[in-house]
Amino acid sequence: MNSPPFCYFDCNATTRVAPEVLEAMLPFLRQQWGNPSSAYGFGRAVARRLDQARLKAAALINADPREIVFTSGGTESNNAALRGALAARPECRHLVTTAVEHSSILKFAGLLQKQGCALTVLPVDSNGALDLERLEKSLRPDTALVSAMLANNETGVLFPIAEVAALCRAKGVLCHTDAVQAAGKLRLDVKALGVDFLSLSAHKLRGPKGVGLLYVKRHTKFQPLLLGGGQERGRRGGTENVPGIVAFGRAAELAMTDLELQATRVRALRDRLEEGILRSLPGVARNGAPEPRLPNTANLAFEGVEAEGLLLLLDQAGICASAGSACSSGALDASHVLSAMGCSPARARGSIRFSLGLDNTAAEIEYLLQCLPAIVARLRAQGQSQRE
Ligand SMILES: Cc1ncc(COP(=O)(O)O)c(C=O)c1O
Repeated sequence: MNSPPFCYFDCNATTRVAPEVLEAMLPFLRQQWGNPSSAYGFGRAVARRLDQARLKAAALINADPREIVFTSGGTESNNAALRGALAARPECRHLVTTAVEHSSILKFAGLLQKQGCALTVLPVDSNGALDLERLEKSLRPDTALVSAMLANNETGVLFPIAEVAALCRAKGVLCHTDAVQAAGKLRLDVKALGVDFLSLSAHKLRGPKGVGLLYVKRHTKFQPLLLGGGQERGRRGGTENVPGIVAFGRAAELAMTDLELQATRVRALRDRLEEGILRSLPGVARNGAPEPRLPNTANLAFEGVEAEGLLLLLDQAGICASAGSACSSGALDASHVLSAMGCSPARARGSIRFSLGLDNTAAEIEYLLQCLPAIVARLRAQGQSQRE
């Protein structure tokens, strides 16, 4: 029997390391393995390459290299932004975020709340959109930080971060954005956004896992999350992940080349996938506003279907997609993002996310469109017979 083709539609979970990125990092595992903090030439040569990577990562978001703090990824960057902003201004003990943030924001904000911080979690509407008036009203004299994501990882819905940052600035409140899902898909400019902090993660843009960055705007008060050596200008202790950082720099460089062209190509594939499914299958609906949205993400609700079963059968057909659900104690919980958008538990449990990338082809989309109707019909029939 022929094995099915491998179709990866889960690029918001992670991406394949680009061959150029792998090539860039290997010398730092093989020959140039020195510690960049060492005073001798062998270490200093590595430090210079770290500086070059910092320039490239900074260019991706139009930042000054001195504003880049390399971290172990999006989770650490998000934790560090919340902790760093609050610790630097002890007189401000109020934090504002949204109900659809990644768990690295929501769980850390919950911890800060347990430690005595006041927390406002803003709702979203059924399209996944934020009410800016409500956000503005939530700002208090003691608000330290607003943290709102640029692009939602489950639905791809974009928040108007430049407007959020402007509201914050007017009230003297710091603004952080989790741009982990936006990088490599949209052009990013911290100056145009006007944010004080921004998080990125390399593995979402064809870099390796375990490396990311936190942009900290010049002259912003900030306390490190990790204390240790004086690395990263005293803003993040720990010997730098040199191969990872060099790879991140290369991935940033690649992401900047042809970004709009690639995004247009990926958008066309995503639209073909989405329209193909919506047209050929009854009882399917999109979750979240169609625009403004990431060009690569489609989140679809399949009536009368459990995402768990759908993903299993897709997997058997060689297709990787995901449910916007956290797997806890063996059961799929309904996604907090879809729940916040007012989806019923049944709709949330029947929703899956397709997130495309640069490696996807039109043939893969056609293969999915060919497989899906029979899979959905089979699951619906099973559900029907279980109910009878
Ligand atoms: C929006 C968002 N923020 C943060 C993260 C965490 O990034 P990392 O996997 O690098 O810790 C993710 C990862 O899925 C994400 O989608």
